Amino acid sequence: MRTQVGIVGAGPAGLLLSHLLHLEGIASVVLESRSREEIESTIRAGVLEQGTVDLLDRTGVGARMRREGAIHHGINLRFAGRTHRIDLRGLTGGRSIMLYAQHEVIKDLVQARLLAGGEIQFEAEGVGIEGIDGRSPRIRYRKDGQELEVTCDFVAGCDGFHGVSRAAIPGAARSEYQHLYPFGWFGILTRAPPSSDELIYARHERGFALVSTRSPQIQRLYFQCDPQDDEAGWSDARIWEEMHARLENVEGWRLSEGPILQKGIVALRSFMVEPMQHGRLFLAGDAAHIVPATGAKGLNLAAADVLVLSRALAEFFRSGKTELLDRYSATCLRRAWRAQRFSRWMTALTHRDQTDDAFTRQLQLAELEYLTSSRAASTALAENYVGLPIE
Ligand code: FAD
Ligand code: PHB
Repeated sequence: MRTQVGIVGAGPAGLLLSHLLHLEGIASVVLESRSREEIESTIRAGVLEQGTVDLLDRTGVGARMRREGAIHHGINLRFAGRTHRIDLRGLTGGRSIMLYAQHEVIKDLVQARLLAGGEIQFEAEGVGIEGIDGRSPRIRYRKDGQELEVTCDFVAGCDGFHGVSRAAIPGAARSEYQHLYPFGWFGILTRAPPSSDELIYARHERGFALVSTRSPQIQRLYFQCDPQDDEAGWSDARIWEEMHARLENVEGWRLSEGPILQKGIVALRSFMVEPMQHGRLFLAGDAAHIVPATGAKGLNLAAADVLVLSRALAEFFRSGKTELLDRYSATCLRRAWRAQRFSRWMTALTHRDQTDDAFTRQLQLAELEYLTSSRAASTALAENYVGLPIE
C-alpha cells in the first residue's frame, strides 16, 4: 500500500490529522492497534477548549457536539468551605469551554473519515516504523495473520504515550523531560443528575476532588488517590463517603449520588520529548507530551499539534517548501511547555502533597485567596483554561 501520510494511532491526534489532511486533498492511512469498539468506548477527556471546538465546527465534524455537548462559561474553585466562580467568558472576552466526551469526538471523527472513504486499519499489530531518514519511510504491521507494509512520504506518530513512534527517533537525537507526581486520580462515571451547572475543582485537607459531567444523566467525578492504590479496595459506599468529605456540603450544596457505572485510577505525569520530529517522522499528541489532567489540556494539545502539522504538510505538498515542517517541533513545543506550566500550577494549587509542611499548606490557601480575589490573577487562570491561541 502507498499513501502520502502514514498515521500511527487512531486517537484524537491521528483521526483529526487524517481528517484535516483529507480537507487539504492529502491522502493518509491510519493504523490502530485496538478495535473500533474499544477506541469508541474508552473513557478519557471531557473538556474541549474554545479553539478545539472552533476547529471541529469549522471542519464539519462539530454538529453532534453542538447538539449533545454543553457549553460552560465558568468553573468553580472550592476551598476553605467556600466556592468561588471563575467567569471564563467574562474574563477572556467571550471564550468558553465545551463538555463533550473524548470517545464521542472519536466516534464523530471515525464516522467522518469512513464516510469520506478514508482508510483506517483497526487491530493492526506489531507496528514498526522504518526509513524515516530517507524520502520513503515505511510502516510495517500485521493484520489477520498477514505481514503488511505502507510506504509513505511522511509518518505521523500519533500513538499516545505508550506507542512505538517516539522510540523510532534515535536516543542520541532526542531529549526527554519527565516529572512524576505522588498522586493518582480515581475517576468514576455515575448515573445521576448533575450536582453543579459548572465544574468544581476542590482543594481539601483530605486531597483534591473534581466534579465534572458528561450529560444530564451521567456525571464524571474524580478524587486524588495514591497512584498505587487498587480500585478493588474502594467499595461504592467508600467512594461516596470520600467524595462527600472532600466536597463538603458548603452553602447548602449537595453532591448527587447514583449507581457507579465505571471506575479507574490514572497516575498523574508530566512528560516532554524534544524535538517532536526527526527526518520524515513527526510526533503529535500524547506520543510527544503528557500533562497532568488537572488543566484539562491533553486532548486540546493533540488537536493543536495536528492543526500545525496539517498546515505544514499542506504547504509542502502544494509548493515543496519545508519551512513550516522544519518549524513544526519548535511551534508545538512552545505551546506544550506553556500547557505544562499551567497544568503543574493547577495541580500544585489543588492537590494535597503529603510531604508539604504546614507553611506550604498555608501558602496554597493564600494563593487560592489571591487568585479568587484578584481580577488579574483570575484572568491568567481563565485565559489558560479556555486555551491560548494556536500559532
Ligand atoms: P491517545 O488518545 O492515547 O491515542 C493513541 C492511539 O494510538 C490509541 O488509540 C492507541 O490504541 C493507539 N496505539 C498505541 N500504540 C500503538 C501501536 N503500537 N500501533 C498502533 N496504534 C497504537 N485532555 C483534555 O484535553 N481535556 C480533558 O478534560 C482531559 N481529561 C482527561 C482525563 C483522564 C482521566 C485522562 C486519562 C486523560 C485526560 N485528558 C484530557 C488527556 C487526553 O485524554 C489525552 O491527551 C488524549 O487522549 C491524547 O490523544 P492522542 O491521540 O495523542 O493519544
Ligand atoms: C473530565 O470531565 O473528564 C475532566 C474535566 C476536567 C479536568 C479533567 C478531566 O481537568
